[in-house]
Amino acid sequence: MEVIRTIHEMRKAVKLWKEQGKTIGFVPTMGYLHEGHQSLMQAAKKQTDIRVLSIFVNPIQFGPNEDYETYPRDEERDLSIARNEQVDCVFMPSVKEMYPQPIRTKVQVAEVTDKLCGASRPGHFDGVSTVVSKLFHIIQPNKAFFGLKDAQQVAVIEQMAGDLNMDIDIVPCPIVREADGLALSSRNKYLNAEERKQAVVLSQSLSALNDWLQERTLTLEQIRNRLTEQISKAPLAHIDYVEILKYPELEPPEEGQMLAQMTGKYIAALAVKFGATRLIDNHIFTLQ
Ligand code: PAJ
Repeated sequence: MEVIRTIHEMRKAVKLWKEQGKTIGFVPTMGYLHEGHQSLMQAAKKQTDIRVLSIFVNPIQFGPNEDYETYPRDEERDLSIARNEQVDCVFMPSVKEMYPQPIRTKVQVAEVTDKLCGASRPGHFDGVSTVVSKLFHIIQPNKAFFGLKDAQQVAVIEQMAGDLNMDIDIVPCPIVREADGLALSSRNKYLNAEERKQAVVLSQSLSALNDWLQERTLTLEQIRNRLTEQISKAPLAHIDYVEILKYPELEPPEEGQMLAQMTGKYIAALAVKFGATRLIDNHIFTLQ
């Protein structure tokens, strides 16, 4: 497995693979790898000849009061996980390498970024789409793999790739969960024992939602209220948002309609704080 830290070296490797006619699969991450990231590497392994993993904690997607400085980092552990997953190349540039001077060009996706995490974290998705666009230009993948844990991120990247005619397949991959249902996240390590125990309320409420969807006379507003109620039962949970929107447009559904009258794809999306740790989870479902 090659470990590459400069854009120049990365471009040389990409050029060689392209000359050899190899397809490139790309998994962008911020490191502190877990089984969620590993599932993306495994998907890439099935679908492309060469797998490139990037590890870069991207400063421009963190707000001033967010956890950029304390975001968990463990290079050695990450490299050993990547090696076990038979990744071909890890690209881990420094901040200086990616941003040698303050960046003046940003990729900004409109509308899909106004809601959910975009509303709670202003500028976050500009930072994401800009760095992903830079990484796409450097690595020139045929396919790029993203987790639906961050479903809004998938919607933003798909919108960007479509709008800017990027010749890259965006492959969304399912959410990987702990045995009790908690969606894996590098930030789960911030939770203390009691917070960790109560955090399961996110996935539990989304499983309950799956049952409520069978009650065809309910409205999405009623379901949203039930979700809020269920999450509020955990004393340490502080809700940032509980929303049900159309997916991937992230527009509000028509109000007042019963499930039986509705069709299409929707997302129930949650962001809930436990102490200082903000967790997200979601469930995408189709009504017909
Ligand atoms: P990061 O949070 O490290 O996540 C990297 C990728 O792993 C994302 O596509 C994310 O959705 C996926 N992922 C995380 N937890 C997952 C889980 N439990 N199941 C399935 N997939 C999961 O997302 C980012 O980094 C950054 O914003 C990035 C795209 C790298 C840009 O900086």
